[in-house]
Amino acid sequence: MTIAATQKLPGPAWDELPEVEVLAEWPPPEVFRGVEALVAVVARVGPDELDLLPGLRLVANYGVGYDTVDVAACRARGIAVTNTPGVLDAAVADLTLALILACRRHLVESDRFVRDGGWGRGWAQPELLGRDLAGSTLGLVGMGRIGSQVARRAEAFGMRVAHHRRSNGLPLDELLRSSDVVSLHVPLTPDTRNLLSRERLALIPDGATLVNTARGAIVDEEALADELVSGRISAGLDVFADEPRVPERLLGLPNVVLTPHVGSATVETRAAMTRVLVDNVLAFLRGEPLPNEVED
Ligand code: 8YV
Repeated sequence: MTIAATQKLPGPAWDELPEVEVLAEWPPPEVFRGVEALVAVVARVGPDELDLLPGLRLVANYGVGYDTVDVAACRARGIAVTNTPGVLDAAVADLTLALILACRRHLVESDRFVRDGGWGRGWAQPELLGRDLAGSTLGLVGMGRIGSQVARRAEAFGMRVAHHRRSNGLPLDELLRSSDVVSLHVPLTPDTRNLLSRERLALIPDGATLVNTARGAIVDEEALADELVSGRISAGLDVFADEPRVPERLLGLPNVVLTPHVGSATVETRAAMTRVLVDNVLAFLRGEPLPNEVED
């Protein structure tokens, strides 16, 4: 047995893999010597875990973001790491727009209002008055594959789109100060951890919305919770610093829409991610170059 997986993946491509041992728990309770390839799904893979798989030569990460994998530790042991870029951009961009709309138009609150029987007690509740997307400004932090897809969708809604990235665009502080909606589309790296610090969150205008479909730890989560409890801004959050833990203080707030890291969670996209991952594992088994080897 040479392939282990923390989880079985959806989609037909999975069946092209030779025998896979789906692990009952991660990290495994004992040393597995025979495992050469690991299919990792939201699994921390650092030195402690690598010690349990001494024969490992490949970590195939199910996702474009690989912040849970210690790439340097893998490299030091001669283990290649692959990811699944390029197939989930549209799905994540769709969810981003869904969260923007949900927050700007009080979608979840409106649903609750109807279910709770509030509608019968009056029309046009002031607290359900939303804000137009058309004419408002979307500030994108990051303008890679996913950010660009969000920009196209937002423009179709009539939003003005501005962005910040390392090489061009507005300085980050200026972008934050001038946006009605801020949306994050950078990977989690040492440079982006806590990028939206308490001080930077304070630059976001009153009444604006922060959307995060990237990684929770890009934002100072405590400071964000303070801002949200105060009601100064709203937020649509698909990701959290310590998933699946969601800060308790957010759970009762009307100005927050919470989703459980479902950016790429469509039948089509998850199957496409499996296809990419399987292609990488098959290339590894054949001794061919890996199509999506992570460089850093
Ligand atoms: C999840 C993601 O990792 O691709 C990423 O970086 O965050 C998501 O696609 C993936 O869905 C794992 O279940």
